[in-house]
Amino acid sequence: MTLPHGVLRGVATSAWQIEGATREGGRGPSIWDRFARRPGAIRTGETGDKACDHYHRWREDIALIADLGCDAYRFSVAWPRIQPEGRGRPNPDGLDFYDRLVDGLAEAGIAPVVCLYHWDLPEALQDRGGWTNRETVPRFAEYAWRVADRLGDRVSTFFMMNEANIHARLGHLIGVHAPGVVRPDAFLRAMHHQTQATAEAMRALDEESRDWRLGTILSLAPVSPGDDSQSAEEAAHRLDSWWNGAGLDPLVHGRYPEAIAETMDSVIDHDAYDLERMHRPPDVIGVNYYHPLYARPDRDAPLGLAVAEAAPGAQETTAMGWGIEPDRLEAMLLRLKADYGDPALMVTETGAAFDDRPDAEGRIRDPRRIAFLESHLDAIARAIDGGAKVEGVFVWSLLDNVEWAEGTAKRFGLVHVDFETQTRTPKDSYRWLQEQWRG
Ligand code: FCB
Repeated sequence: MTLPHGVLRGVATSAWQIEGATREGGRGPSIWDRFARRPGAIRTGETGDKACDHYHRWREDIALIADLGCDAYRFSVAWPRIQPEGRGRPNPDGLDFYDRLVDGLAEAGIAPVVCLYHWDLPEALQDRGGWTNRETVPRFAEYAWRVADRLGDRVSTFFMMNEANIHARLGHLIGVHAPGVVRPDAFLRAMHHQTQATAEAMRALDEESRDWRLGTILSLAPVSPGDDSQSAEEAAHRLDSWWNGAGLDPLVHGRYPEAIAETMDSVIDHDAYDLERMHRPPDVIGVNYYHPLYARPDRDAPLGLAVAEAAPGAQETTAMGWGIEPDRLEAMLLRLKADYGDPALMVTETGAAFDDRPDAEGRIRDPRRIAFLESHLDAIARAIDGGAKVEGVFVWSLLDNVEWAEGTAKRFGLVHVDFETQTRTPKDSYRWLQEQWRG
């Protein structure tokens, strides 16, 4: 099946993973800059200081996006470029950078889809508790407003955040992402405050009464029991509530899923526990999907849940060890339709890491990525056929980049990047997608 006409075709990136230039243009430090300097935090020892040098090479990157046949590009704005200290008057150089980028996209006929926060919190806010402190909520709403005020004459879709659920989990519970905190109460607060910030930022932008479509992006993954036991069944239900429901239900339904409501209520300060104000259904929900989840109870694991990212004994996984199950993406899109009021959706990320390097002729043959994309685009087309309102699809990612704690060891790009020379080489998957999208 092919994607129907009118569904946006795009690629996605994030600021910290590609921009580099962390000390240029008046940018302040982010939590990822600090975290990356912890010995061992990033597998291959990189920082974000160079990354893909997109800050200087954005014109070349726009040309790659245009050539691929995209009609949209999802990127994120680095908060510490806009407000180096996380508050106050914006840094003109920071706003100018994104202004030029948006103009460059317009010239190339590509619609910008802006994500306002992809995990790079200004370090100054982390020093005051970051997402565990509810003071960060109004800070974010103000920042969102400042960006929208500047770019909003040319940008119509703003996503408030990328994967608040993963940022809370990996950054505040497991500690393998910035800010590297390992505390269940920090996880709960980070989850709650990010969702609250999402709602408050949408409300702040609502006051402008503009024609914007506002939403947020979550990692949404169908959960199955890890074995046949009753306890695994229950574990799957609880994990589903933490992973999928915690970020979505307050926005769409104005409440937490039953399985976690009490825990949330017991930790969050009472005057911050304003579920009514958090009830601001997104105009469009961004779905990031890579793999399903398998759950088992485990008293020693975070939240008492052992989480696997591939079916027990799965043969086929990506370089991340993630199970390849495109049908589950279709199922997730249809479930959102059924359980969340038939919302407008965008698949804001899907893609795969495989370690394919240039051969003797410099060509990068990545047949497994092509197969992954083909099966997942097909799954999306089936979901659309089944009635899911999917308005856009964004492949993760345009470029090989700094894959957070994995550094440059895990390559998700349609375009290979030689990090020494910054040479970009389109992989076979890029050519394949180009054929699909340009016809
Ligand atoms: C998602 C992130 C994105 C990238 C992909 C592989 O969780 O949003 O930045 O790391 O996974």
